[in-house]
Amino acid sequence: MSQESERYIPALRFRWLTPLYDPVLRWGMREAGFKRSLVEQMALRPGMRVLDLGCGTGTLAIMLEQLQPEVEVTGIDGDLEVLAIAQEKAARAGVSIQWDSGMAYDLPYADGSFDRVVSSLVIHHLTMPDKQRTFREVLRVLRPGGEFHILDFGKPHNLYTRLAAAVIRHFEETAVQLDGRLPEMLIHSGFTELGEVSHFTTVFGPLTSLKAIKPAGVGK
Ligand SMILES: C[S@@+](CC[C@H](N)C(=O)[O-])C[C@H]1O[C@@H](n2cnc3c(N)ncnc32)[C@H](O)[C@@H]1O
Repeated sequence: MSQESERYIPALRFRWLTPLYDPVLRWGMREAGFKRSLVEQMALRPGMRVLDLGCGTGTLAIMLEQLQPEVEVTGIDGDLEVLAIAQEKAARAGVSIQWDSGMAYDLPYADGSFDRVVSSLVIHHLTMPDKQRTFREVLRVLRPGGEFHILDFGKPHNLYTRLAAAVIRHFEETAVQLDGRLPEMLIHSGFTELGEVSHFTTVFGPLTSLKAIKPAGVGK
């Protein structure tokens, strides 16, 4: 790790809550629906190399491998405790995934290593400077024409999510996302052809999925 961040937010904010992460996501947030939709949005093809950035306990990476066994999936996270859970779950599911430890804003991969980078519920853990550094790193490790798919808190889209957003904007690093500013940050980092793909209402607030493309002719 070449540059340390001052602030690291674990999966459920406090490390002692990590063992509860999977039940909270499965039963509280109903993660299966939006994660499956995210996989569909990625339009994967056999042979593609995919990075799950901030893979946590590995649910999405395992789902990716189960739904598209011909893709090569790598999961990276900065927390060794969640990676151990991910490894155990993948072994139980009988899928082969490369698990790496590392920071989202300092990725241990060569330029142009991946066809797709996906990040689910991670960007709101990053401070504003770390979000910007992370977007530049993702751009670097994607091949030209490669895609970055993000699922995270976004602009509220109905009454319930407006109420929830008024509360969660005071937690973690969500405010900039609830104001709908991720797209302009991605463009500023060098991505193009940006689109909001889907909106989801969850008990914790509004989720939006985005797709951003690394322009052909940039980098490797
Ligand atoms: C809410 S969890 C999401 C996990 C998983 N992607 C999912 O959708 O269930 C956020 C994850 O981001 C990881 N994380 C937070 N800051 C990070 C950073 N700077 N670099 C890498 N991972 C980070 C945390 O360790 C945690 O596993």
